[in-house]
Amino acid sequence: MRIGVLFCTCGGTISEKLDLKKVEDFAKTLEDVVIVETTDLFCEKPEEILEKFKGKIDRFIFAGCSERSSLKMGEDKLSSLLENIGINRAMFETVNLREQCAWIHDNRDGATRKAMDQLMMSYVKVKTNIPQGSVKLAKRALIIGAGVAGMKCASDLAKVGIEAVIVEKKPYIGGKTSMIPMLFQCEGYASMCTSECIIPVMGREVQKEGIKLITNAEVVDVAKEDGNFKVKIEKKAMMVKPDKCVSCGKCAEVCPIEIENPFDFGLTKRKAIDKDFSLAMPDSYTIDAEACNKCGSCVSVCPTNAIDLEAKGEIIEEKFGAVVIATGFEGYDMKKFEKLSYSHPNVVTLLELERLIKNNFGGKVPESVVFVLCQKDEVGYCSKLCCPITAKLAFRLAALYPEMEVTVVYKNLRTYGRAFEEFRRKCEMQGVEFVNSEVREIKAENGTLKVITDEEIEADLVVLADPLVPSAIKLMKLFGVKLDKYGFPIEFQPRIITPMETYVDRVYAAGMARSFKDIQESVESGSAAAMKVYEALKDGEKKLQKYVSMVNSDKCIGCGICRETCPHNAISVDENLKSKVNPGFCKGCGLCTSVCPTGAIQVMNFEDWQLMKQIDVAFSHAKDGEKRVLALLCYWCSYAAGDLMGRYGLKLPANFRSIRVRCSASVSNWVLLKALMENKVDAILVAGCPPNNCHHLYGNEMEDKRIASLKAIMPEIGLDENSLRWEYVGVGMWKKLADVLNKMSS
Ligand code: FES
Repeated sequence: MRIGVLFCTCGGTISEKLDLKKVEDFAKTLEDVVIVETTDLFCEKPEEILEKFKGKIDRFIFAGCSERSSLKMGEDKLSSLLENIGINRAMFETVNLREQCAWIHDNRDGATRKAMDQLMMSYVKVKTNIPQGSVKLAKRALIIGAGVAGMKCASDLAKVGIEAVIVEKKPYIGGKTSMIPMLFQCEGYASMCTSECIIPVMGREVQKEGIKLITNAEVVDVAKEDGNFKVKIEKKAMMVKPDKCVSCGKCAEVCPIEIENPFDFGLTKRKAIDKDFSLAMPDSYTIDAEACNKCGSCVSVCPTNAIDLEAKGEIIEEKFGAVVIATGFEGYDMKKFEKLSYSHPNVVTLLELERLIKNNFGGKVPESVVFVLCQKDEVGYCSKLCCPITAKLAFRLAALYPEMEVTVVYKNLRTYGRAFEEFRRKCEMQGVEFVNSEVREIKAENGTLKVITDEEIEADLVVLADPLVPSAIKLMKLFGVKLDKYGFPIEFQPRIITPMETYVDRVYAAGMARSFKDIQESVESGSAAAMKVYEALKDGEKKLQKYVSMVNSDKCIGCGICRETCPHNAISVDENLKSKVNPGFCKGCGLCTSVCPTGAIQVMNFEDWQLMKQIDVAFSHAKDGEKRVLALLCYWCSYAAGDLMGRYGLKLPANFRSIRVRCSASVSNWVLLKALMENKVDAILVAGCPPNNCHHLYGNEMEDKRIASLKAIMPEIGLDENSLRWEYVGVGMWKKLADVLNKMSS
């Protein structure tokens, strides 16, 4: 074992506050430490400085600024610099000499003693770390859903050399966008563009090399294997071979069976063999298997022998390194609102109106149309798009049918952005009437519909702005994606900067499957998902992070609590009833460790005994009688708050030592009790991210509850319950953290 230690004075700001020479001399006395160097500004020339260590060490300690909060030398940068000189990313530790020592203590002697203890804590840890390897990833992505987001994602991926496989439930691509004849364009001008242009343009892009399109198919099962997704896809029988069909339509001409066309909500008819719409892609006729009676008329007229009525479906099993769920949206079941009379044939939804306009209302153009907005209070959220879509459709009706009376009844009108607001103004110019009122009921009387608000508005047709609902709850669950209370995927925290990511590594949600987006926004999110996939798969491997969980199968009793607790869907229970961590998906949060009843599952490089070793030496240089306060600060928010105490110049007594733990819930009760019972410390603070901000979803709330129950039993085992404290500490709550530590130190 050869350990190198590098001290940085940070331009003298560390060395002026503590006796750095003393700490360096101490480092030289530690067994296996073979090089100790000091620099004034490591961040200025890191490569040059690290050259001095190259080939001479196998583990490294950096003592200077905070790995969490340094604006110049964060842990990721340090880790990659070290990999360049051959040090594995798990084989280094840092000593936070700046933010949580020199910058926060005025007591030179206390700060120097603390610095030596901090060095010891990193030293005992780095000696026990285990190097991390990597897993091979398939350089291909599964994209579920061939709407605009999915198509854009696939075409962008193919351009950068990542194979894309699109699975689409319907026989055609384009999703619901293809049902909307005129699409709004909402940047710059309030204009529209036809889907008869947009969909073929995008559709041709996904029929290129590097993209495999599987229509009429659904994902039915998923397993995780060696860091990849092993996915089962059920493909229905393709009775018309798309590569042979030339779309001549002879088959449909002779087909004797006519059915309602679901693409037009039954407004138009199609044959059992037909195209749902003329521009459907792939450019091939399809057979509705339920309607077809296999009479064979079509087979006999097909000029290219494209039809095989005996074709069978198949199960396709393939491996993917990443998955993008882009299944679009569904409309709310409006029948649930009895007062809105949706079952009446002249009460329709926005999408149904799109098809009515396309088909010129089947020749029966209504004289009066009333739009009814909005049901957000009932469903619990605003779908964002109902108001803009209403504005667009009201404008279209008024422009296409100048004689038509068009009214919009609304509670709140939210036409966000430049162009949507312009659509609303255009509506007014076209004579659309906007009525601000609550709709109490829609009544059908004597063949007329009456919209009952403060007044009665008669209408030939009522259009309900149906709220949008998630389309992929079952699918998301299949991949282990955590959902919010409405069924939309919860983005990985911090959501502001990782909006494309779910809690499952390399599963992304794009377009309306993620949240409410107009078509442009959906296309943007398809591109964004492609970028994330590229970033994950470009090297064909994933370097495992320093911290991943591992199972001791001798101790595992197969209870499965770890699997249920894991927010990242990284644990399974195998056929021998033993838990198994899939390291390619593990984020090393340690929630599994803390709930395991037998201690069988531990986080590599953050095992309980490693934490205990650090605690053992944490107060080696404390003075007799000095209160020993240990702060176990969660990796993200709370540790950063600790750093900000120093950055903003707060001053605290030098008798607290902090350890950057994984999620706050990674700290097991055993460690807390042992530290207190064996008199290693006088008081312990465990701090985690604020509610709804834990990077592992619910670890902070778990730890809050667990500490409350632990405190309840502490008196029974002779411990003072006040010696243990839990706090929610967000990054911006550094003053609160300082207050808590000050109180605990006195
Ligand atoms: Fe901060 Fe879970 S990551 S408490």
